[in-house]
Amino acid sequence: MDILVIGSGGREHTIVRKLRESPRVSKLYCAPGNGGISADAECCNVDAMDKEGMLALAREKNVDMVFVAPDDPLGAGMVDFLEAGGFTCFGPNKKAAEIESSKVFSKNLMKKYGIPTAGYEVFTSPSEALDYIRSQGKYPAVIKADGLAVGKGVTLAQNEQEAAEALHSLMEERKFGSSGDRVVVEEFLTGPEVTVLAFTDGHVVYPMVSSMDHKRAYDNDMGPNTGGMGTISPSPFYTDKIAKVCMDTIFLPTMNAMNAEGRKFKGCLYFGIMLTPDGPKVIEYNSRFGDPETQVVLPRLKTDLVDIIEAVANEKLSEIDVKWSDEACACVIIASGGYPGSYEKGKLISGLDENGQLDGATVIHAGTKLEDGKFYTSGGRVLGITAKGADLREALDRAYKSTEKVSFDGAFYRKDIGSRCFLS
Ligand code: AMP
Ligand code: GLY
Repeated sequence: MDILVIGSGGREHTIVRKLRESPRVSKLYCAPGNGGISADAECCNVDAMDKEGMLALAREKNVDMVFVAPDDPLGAGMVDFLEAGGFTCFGPNKKAAEIESSKVFSKNLMKKYGIPTAGYEVFTSPSEALDYIRSQGKYPAVIKADGLAVGKGVTLAQNEQEAAEALHSLMEERKFGSSGDRVVVEEFLTGPEVTVLAFTDGHVVYPMVSSMDHKRAYDNDMGPNTGGMGTISPSPFYTDKIAKVCMDTIFLPTMNAMNAEGRKFKGCLYFGIMLTPDGPKVIEYNSRFGDPETQVVLPRLKTDLVDIIEAVANEKLSEIDVKWSDEACACVIIASGGYPGSYEKGKLISGLDENGQLDGATVIHAGTKLEDGKFYTSGGRVLGITAKGADLREALDRAYKSTEKVSFDGAFYRKDIGSRCFLS
C-alpha cells in the first residue's frame, strides 16, 4: 500500500515510523512533513489545511489511504473532502470531529448521555460568565474556549481578576477568533491525569495502552501550559480496575452516544481523563492521536498498524486482535528557548547523525528542517527523545541519557518527566 500522512509534527513522525515497520507498506508520503520525517517518508510541500492541494497530491501519488493526523484539518472536514474524491481515510469526518472542535458540543453530549465530567455552564456573554464565576466564589475557575485554540484555550483562573482577563481576551479581544464566541465555565477537578487513546470504528472501541502527558513548560508543573513537554506509558495510576470502570462509564458510552447522534466516530478517539476521588471523569476529548502521547504509545504496538487503520476505515475492527508490548516507553521533549511564548528559529542542532537519529533512543522530530545535510530548529517543540525499557525507570534513564547528547542554542527540557510516578 502507498499511504499519505497529513501533518508535520512529532506525532506524524511517530506514525510514519510505525507505518514504515509494516511489510504491507511500499511508499510513504507526508504532507508537509519536517526535516526528520524526510528520512522516513517523501515529504510533499502541501499545507495540512489545503483540501484541494491534498486531493491533488493524493491523486498524483495515487495513494491507497490517507491518514489525517492533526485536529485542524479534521475539524475543517479534510476527511469528508478526500472521501468524496474517492480516497479511503483514517480519521473522523467533520461531524464526528466536533467532539474536539466544540467544547460546548462535547459537554452537552456528556450531560445528555450521563458520561462523567466536570459540572459546567455555557456562556455567550463575558459579563454573564463573570457574574456566574463571582456567584460561585470558587477558585480556580476553569474557563474554556468553545472552539480550537492551538491547545491554549483553557484558563485556570486563580481569582476574579484572572477570570475577567481570560474572558476579555477570549470573548472581546477574540484572541482565538470565533473559538471564543462561546465559553464553558466548569468545576475544577483534582487527581492524576491520564490519556487513553482508542481505536474505534463505531462498532467496537479498543483502548490503547495508557499514557501521561506533562503539559506545563517547567519542572514541578510550573510555568505556562504547552502542547506537552514529555510523556510516559503506561501510567501507573491507571490500574486494570480503573480501566474497566472507564470502559463501562466512558469509552463505550461515548461511542454509543456518537452513533445515537448520527456522528459515527471512525479513527482514534483521545480520552483525557482525571482520576478524581469520585472516580474517572472526562477532562477533554480529542478527535485524533495525542502529541506527544503517540510518541510513547505507538512504539508499544505489536500489531501491524496498517491492518488496524484499514479495519477502522472498513468498519471491521472487531476482526482484529490488537496486541501491545509490556515494555514501558518515555519521551522527553526538547523545546526552543521562549516556548510556548515567542522563540527564535533556525538554530543548528548538534548531536544527530545524517538521518536525524542518535544511538540508544529514537529521535522524533517535531520542529526541524533539513538544509545541506544539517538539521535546524523550525518550531517550539523541536525533538522528542524516545526510549523503551523493561520498566519506566529504564525507559526514562535511556531517554534522558540520549537527551543530554543533543544541543542547540536556547534548548531546554524538563528534568522531571515521569518523576511523579515514583513518589510514594
Ligand atoms: P486542555 O487544553 O483541554 O488539554 O486543558 C489543559 C489542562 O487544563 C488539562 O490538561 C488539565 O490539566 C487542566 N484542566 C482542564 N479542565 C480542568 C478541570 N475541569 N479541572 C482541573 N483542571 C482542568
Ligand atoms: N498532548 C495533548 C494533546 O495532544 O492534545
